[in-house]
Amino acid sequence: MTTEPLPEFPAGFRWGVATSAYQIEGATTAAGRGPSIWDTFAHTPGLVADGSTGDVACDHWHRPGEDVALMAGLGVSAYRFSVAWPRVQPGGTGPANAAGLDFYDRLVDNLAAAGVDPVATLYHWDLPQPLEDAGGWLNRDTAARFAEYADLVAARLGDRVKLWITLNEPFVQMSLGYGTGQHAPGRTLLFGAFPVAHHQLLGHGLAVAALRARTASPVAITNNYSPVRVAGGTDADRAAADAYDALHNRLFTDPLLGLGYPDVPGADAGAVRDGDLAVIAAPIDVLGVNYYNPTGVRAADADSPLPFDLVELSGYPRTAFDWPVVPEGLRELLTGLRDRYGDRLPPIQVTESGCAYDDAPDVDGRVHDPERITYLDGHLRAVRAAIDDGVDVTGYFVWSLLDNWEWAEGFTKRFGLVHVDFATGARTPKSSYAWFRDAVTRPARPA
Ligand code: NOJ
Repeated sequence: MTTEPLPEFPAGFRWGVATSAYQIEGATTAAGRGPSIWDTFAHTPGLVADGSTGDVACDHWHRPGEDVALMAGLGVSAYRFSVAWPRVQPGGTGPANAAGLDFYDRLVDNLAAAGVDPVATLYHWDLPQPLEDAGGWLNRDTAARFAEYADLVAARLGDRVKLWITLNEPFVQMSLGYGTGQHAPGRTLLFGAFPVAHHQLLGHGLAVAALRARTASPVAITNNYSPVRVAGGTDADRAAADAYDALHNRLFTDPLLGLGYPDVPGADAGAVRDGDLAVIAAPIDVLGVNYYNPTGVRAADADSPLPFDLVELSGYPRTAFDWPVVPEGLRELLTGLRDRYGDRLPPIQVTESGCAYDDAPDVDGRVHDPERITYLDGHLRAVRAAIDDGVDVTGYFVWSLLDNWEWAEGFTKRFGLVHVDFATGARTPKSSYAWFRDAVTRPARPA
């Protein structure tokens, strides 16, 4: 574990922690909330590793004050949370459910009182189930429904949210949700899932317009990126790596920044209508970047349904998720975005970075997580190095404030700076919490 102090970050750099609604809130029927695709998925036997659901999760719905106090104690300047669409529109359409919005209204006031900027994600994968029943993100109409929902949230919170993020990781929603089925809604369409990409992007563009009409705060989208490493030395391996890069790293960002779609299977199947690309390329103020690890890719076997094969990258430490720990991949990603998009690229905020380890209290009840400290230290140095390389990076959010409900992995993967006892809800700050607090509260370099 390194003891060297971190390099300084520019004055005004945004330090934050992130969560999402279904992963922490629980109380899935409170205040008129309707069902989401994740309620349906988690309650289907066999789909979640430990058979758990988000019915209770971290019980954040009943503990917002305690959780805001944890953020205040951490000294962060921002909190990235998501608004649950099925709390705002239980049926996915129609007027706002005021009781659902009340929770977020109080939350943003509590954050402001604690000196923490609210950063709101509008969609972190919890689509109202009635919209899925009408085709979900395969249905073009869902894009329009999303913009209506964005308008309702902005009408209530637009005066206080400091940064809006329309969608979280639309690539994961498309690929795992509709392509391979490990995530809700559990569809297995492979490249037939392309319309899910397009309709999310269209929804994003329409939501940007809705937000602009309600608020002067900056607007962003969060994509997840994974630098691609070619595994193998043949032309076929290089072509496979390029195909994967187009799908994972460029499919969403190229059209967002005005370059249109890259060449990916399914993109020419008729979902894209005249005028859509202009809506999608509406200017954004910030690009949210989530990074966990690079991906090794080689050519697929002849009988594979996919044009690439994903391979394990050897030679790196690994997290409890078995993901390789590669901090330099974050620098490579940030400089790579700048090199690819140049002047089209808005300032970047790293909206998620973090790791899962099997953290447990010791005999004294303390939770030591030195691997997480090493992880965060390395990734923050990578961000600092990218800033030195000339990339405009203005914030970094740790995933996550709390151990929480990790989708298809249930409660088996702990990403928090704060340990959560899922039987009691008790919160225990880990040693990484104190480390991050010290990193965040060091005096900033004068501008
Ligand atoms: C990205 C997702 O946005 C978040 O919900 C998830 O928990 C983390 N990655 C870790 O897998």
